[in-house]
Amino acid sequence: MSTEFVAIVLAAGQGTRMKSDLPKVLHRVLGLPMYAHVTQAALNAGAERVVLVVGHGREQVEADVASRFDARVMTAVQERQLGTGDAVRAGLLPLGNFQGWVVVLCGDTPLAHEGLVAALIRATHEATGPLVMLTSMIDDPTGYGRILRDEHGHVRAVREQKDASEAELGVREINPGVYAIKADFLRSALGKLSTENAQGEFYLTDVVEQAAQASSVHTLSWNFLDTQGVNDRAQLAACESAMRIRFAHALARSGVTVRDPGTLYAEASVRVEAGATLEPNVHLRGNTVIGSEARIDTGAVLTNVKVTRGAVLKPYTVATDSVIGSEAQVGPFSHLRPGSELGERSHVGNFVELKKTRLGKDSKANHLAYLGDGEVGDNVNIGAGTIFCNYDGFNKHVTVLEDEAFIGSDSHLIAPVRVGKGAYVATGTTVTNDVPAGALALSRVKQVNRDGYASKLKARFKAAKDAKSKG
Ligand code: UD1
Ligand code: CA
Repeated sequence: MSTEFVAIVLAAGQGTRMKSDLPKVLHRVLGLPMYAHVTQAALNAGAERVVLVVGHGREQVEADVASRFDARVMTAVQERQLGTGDAVRAGLLPLGNFQGWVVVLCGDTPLAHEGLVAALIRATHEATGPLVMLTSMIDDPTGYGRILRDEHGHVRAVREQKDASEAELGVREINPGVYAIKADFLRSALGKLSTENAQGEFYLTDVVEQAAQASSVHTLSWNFLDTQGVNDRAQLAACESAMRIRFAHALARSGVTVRDPGTLYAEASVRVEAGATLEPNVHLRGNTVIGSEARIDTGAVLTNVKVTRGAVLKPYTVATDSVIGSEAQVGPFSHLRPGSELGERSHVGNFVELKKTRLGKDSKANHLAYLGDGEVGDNVNIGAGTIFCNYDGFNKHVTVLEDEAFIGSDSHLIAPVRVGKGAYVATGTTVTNDVPAGALALSRVKQVNRDGYASKLKARFKAAKDAKSKG
């Protein structure tokens, strides 16, 4: 059964304890601002619209919302932070005369996920009254609103820490701050709030008491960890660890081999297909996609990289804005800078750096090379120590190696330059002119051997050293 609902996400507070100029809800967890996790959870669970209530740093938050979400996500401004009740009142304004359920969430609880919102909505089907809320049992309830129940176990009210009696402070069932409330009831209940409490604020929690008096409050007990808020950067780090593990386990359940879930650092935007293997200490960022049967070994740091099916990334591969073809092999210690494209079954080995270079099918650069601004065809072999000299201090130039070219070790290609199909560049050549297809290019100085000269040379150097240490 689908239920019409919207969500209001509270995010107007300042977050002083973050000690940051950045508005609290823009601090990132797994690469996404905290509010975006909560917002996405609501959308994924089926919210028609989400209203984010903004205040402190609102221009920045509004810009972020516009850059990330479509028109289903709106912002509403709460000019002054008069309390959670006032914040929800602000959030209702853009929703006009909406009649369904309103889910209320906080923008600083990034672990609140789709399943939690979906469970809350399912609970509305059983509720007889206008309000459903989560509650949690915790050992140390300090700071949270306490759930007050009558002798039949029915919720009567939520009491804030600062308003609570000694007896009420002993209650360990707390209010995580997640509710689903019927819109029309909510509008009228908010109209009746007062600021007669210890903090002089409009408490959203007083709506709970009104619902209890009018009919009844339905509660759903929930794991406290999922609604834990972030108030400082220690809690931010704790949330991030928890979410990393959650993501790693989700990948594992979907068929990815995650060798050590505790050390996978994958941002929420990353996709990994079933059948891929991620070894310990792998970092996957941005829009990285890992294809099935690919294997990413330890120490890889991949940002916006497409790794195609069956590719193998050996330890400590660092790649950004690049594409790695199927069954290609990269690393250990390779560096693919933006615009690198590796063809099927190509090999890039240790201490090889590519920048804006395309390597064709079955081509290899196995050791110690710099390949910048290159267009390399299929079946090309690039020897150790090869350098594409692409930069003259002012402009970048392109090196083209056609199919089946062979570049001997320690060659320099002074771009712009082209090596034709099947051509052979001898070891140690500095290629300044284009090499025709099938030609041999050779720019070596002729070798001279002087018989018996080695010992003379050594004697001379030794004498120089001895003279120096005496004098
Ligand atoms: C609130 C609840 C408390 C609950 C706790 C859970 C009330 C009165 N109390 O307390 O029962 O246990 O959350 O974390 O609701 N916000 C605004 N505008 C405001 C005030 C707050 O947007 O004027 C936002 C904050 O940015 C935050 C959220 O609302 O995201 C909760 O506010 P916070 O001050 O943390 O509420 P608590 O006092 O902790
Ligand atoms: Ca709080």
